[in-house]
Amino acid sequence: MNNKDLKFPDGFLWGAATSAYQIEGGLINDWSEWEKSGRRLSKLKAKGLNPLDFQSGQAADSWNRMEEDIACLKKINASAYRFSIDWSRIEPEEGRFDEAALNRYASFVARLQEEEIEPFVTLWHWPIPLWLRDKGGWKSSIIIEYFKKYAERVALALPTVRFWLTLNEPDVYSARSYLNGNWPPQIINPLTYLMVNNNLIKAHRAAYSIVKEQLPNAQVGLASHNVYLESAGGPINNFICLVARWWWNFYIFDKVKNKLDFIGLNFYHHTLLKYGFPRNKNEKTNDMGWELYPEGILPVLKDLQSRYNKPIYITENGTADEDDDHRAWYVKEILKNVHQAIEEGVNVRGYLHWSLLDNFEWADGFGPRFGLFSVDRKTFERKARSSVDVYSEIAKNNFLTL
Ligand code: FCB
Repeated sequence: MNNKDLKFPDGFLWGAATSAYQIEGGLINDWSEWEKSGRRLSKLKAKGLNPLDFQSGQAADSWNRMEEDIACLKKINASAYRFSIDWSRIEPEEGRFDEAALNRYASFVARLQEEEIEPFVTLWHWPIPLWLRDKGGWKSSIIIEYFKKYAERVALALPTVRFWLTLNEPDVYSARSYLNGNWPPQIINPLTYLMVNNNLIKAHRAAYSIVKEQLPNAQVGLASHNVYLESAGGPINNFICLVARWWWNFYIFDKVKNKLDFIGLNFYHHTLLKYGFPRNKNEKTNDMGWELYPEGILPVLKDLQSRYNKPIYITENGTADEDDDHRAWYVKEILKNVHQAIEEGVNVRGYLHWSLLDNFEWADGFGPRFGLFSVDRKTFERKARSSVDVYSEIAKNNFLTL
């Protein structure tokens, strides 16, 4: 290490993140059914797209490749791994919990711990079981009680897990599923959207309490998709930006902050707002056209620290980059800014890269490649992209060489 290297605090966690529906394969839930619905298929056909590229199917086949995924984690020198439990796998029918599936997750946790990889378990990363969809899904408040029972059951099955995330990006889910109608159940209704947000908030609070009751040493958080919302300048833009920031970055955290041990930050986006519209310069973009703006993570982290004063784990950050042109640069720039945030007093305790593997990117299907490891769609073979060398070195050293 030389004196220009940026050292991270001792015990800082390094790793990667995934979610069940995006990697496991073989799941039947509201998403899998929606992918095959007439409405979805005709939309894809009208665009000349192959529906199979937009159905998660075997995904990355992770359910059958536990050891291969662990080998990838070891290759990046991971000390933490965030993954999610699929609700439909655990409770395929109302009130019937699948012990074999719970045991399978428990053995995965045990293997991670054997390898000294700290599991971060997400209870809900978007899909829901079909029977719950039929009861109204997140727009019906009865889901709160069901979520609480499910959370309790999972907590009891995984008693050695310390880090829990109740919900992944509730605000993204509610907006895309109930406001702009892009995702199942494709509802466009502002009132329903608000109700869904409210149910998600209550579900978090209920799950937080039940997990803490069962596992008093657990640390329970929520992963939020916070955006660096920048004003184009002047009082009107500043005001719009303030409101947008409050609604998008703080509203849900404000409602759950007294039941929150840590903050999970998923960071991808910067939006330069001019009279309410995005005016990004987009100097560098990824395969999905998303602007690469790593310096945006610094103000987002500082805002979270000053508003909530809780430990922060970066539970997702990464980019779709099949040819690996930008990934290493992007990660280093992000980490430079994370280091700066720590220097300025922000309590960041870990970085989990999205994603360990190429996976199923929701409505965008298998096109976007977020993986540190590529996954062959037919053989499921995992292959390290070259940025693995860069990231694994940082994780091993706990410092960043510029
Ligand atoms: C986040 C999601 C995650 C993945 C990344 C690219 O918003 O939580 O599942 O799709 O975006």
